Amino acid sequence: MKTEIISNLDVDGLKQIKQSFNLGMPVVVPSETVYGLAAPYNNLDAVNNIFVVKNRPQDNPLIVHISSLEQLDKLVKVESFSKACSQLMDEFWPGPLTILFEKSELVDDLVTAGSNLVAVRMPSHPIFKQIIDFVGVPIVAPSANLSGKPSPTNASDCFEDLDGRVGIIVDGGQCDFGLESTVIKFTTDNSVKILRPGFVTEKDLSQFVDVEIDDSVLESVISSSETKVESPGMKYKHYSPAAKVEIIYDLDLKSLVLNEKEYLVCFSQLNLDLDEKVLNFKSEDELARNLFSTFRNLDRLNASKIYIEFPKENLALQNRILKATG
Ligand code: TXA
Ligand code: MG
Repeated sequence: MKTEIISNLDVDGLKQIKQSFNLGMPVVVPSETVYGLAAPYNNLDAVNNIFVVKNRPQDNPLIVHISSLEQLDKLVKVESFSKACSQLMDEFWPGPLTILFEKSELVDDLVTAGSNLVAVRMPSHPIFKQIIDFVGVPIVAPSANLSGKPSPTNASDCFEDLDGRVGIIVDGGQCDFGLESTVIKFTTDNSVKILRPGFVTEKDLSQFVDVEIDDSVLESVISSSETKVESPGMKYKHYSPAAKVEIIYDLDLKSLVLNEKEYLVCFSQLNLDLDEKVLNFKSEDELARNLFSTFRNLDRLNASKIYIEFPKENLALQNRILKATG
């Protein structure tokens, strides 16, 4: 299959996307977090092909993306959510927050991997919104990487993984956030558990609800495929470059020796004249935005080992780095 990158999405491009869905083929779309591999939630051929194209295990459920609150009514049991939940939607949607709800009958088990919960998010990226509006139904989309690789944050990283596997990649530039959305589940009407940390933080959420963090967030890899975790995606080896990743908790540049093909990724070495093998970002947040593209760039340089400074504040970044070492 020839893969076309569409840079300026117009009505013809939107029609091409619809056509691809009608043929049962998913399409790559940009979002504010990472690129997604998209299909209408009720087009089961196209949804099934998401798993085939990505090589994704069928027991890992998909996030459903909406462009308006009316679309939520179809997907979830409306009586199942609390006032606090509405408050979170008001505050953080559109944006990088995914909420688990009790699903309606209209959502197929293929989407939720058999769970009675469905994950929903309203993306803020204007192109993603435009596509959902044009297609007229909610759209499922996991990250547009081959399973196990770092999520793509620009169109060429999507092309690297999916060239020949999809017909269309919509180029929406570099993603604003660079890490996937925060995934939460309500445990009572007023408390949530963070299953996957993201740009919406514990502190942000705790203005509205009680917040706890799932134990698996700061584990590296949950090794057994038998292990029960609430967000199945967290049990797989993830986000990993081909190079080995080694965490450095107390960075001391003078004592660190970088052999051939070894690199250091850090954020705390301000105003130093650094070696080209040291990739220094201005802050933890800047590293978070660039983590996945940096992993991919270092793989292109055939890096054998990536040393990485462990962040002190950014839980989402801590989580992705830990998963990459597994
Ligand atoms: O930012 C994002 O969330 C991106 C963009 C494209 O929206 N999507 C994304 O999708 O990261 P994916 O499939 O790579 O990760 C979805 C995560 C997985 O860890 C999955 O297990 C979890 O959400 N998840 C999805 N549906 C679930 C459900 N019904 N119950 C529990 N966890 C669920
Ligand atoms: Mg993913």
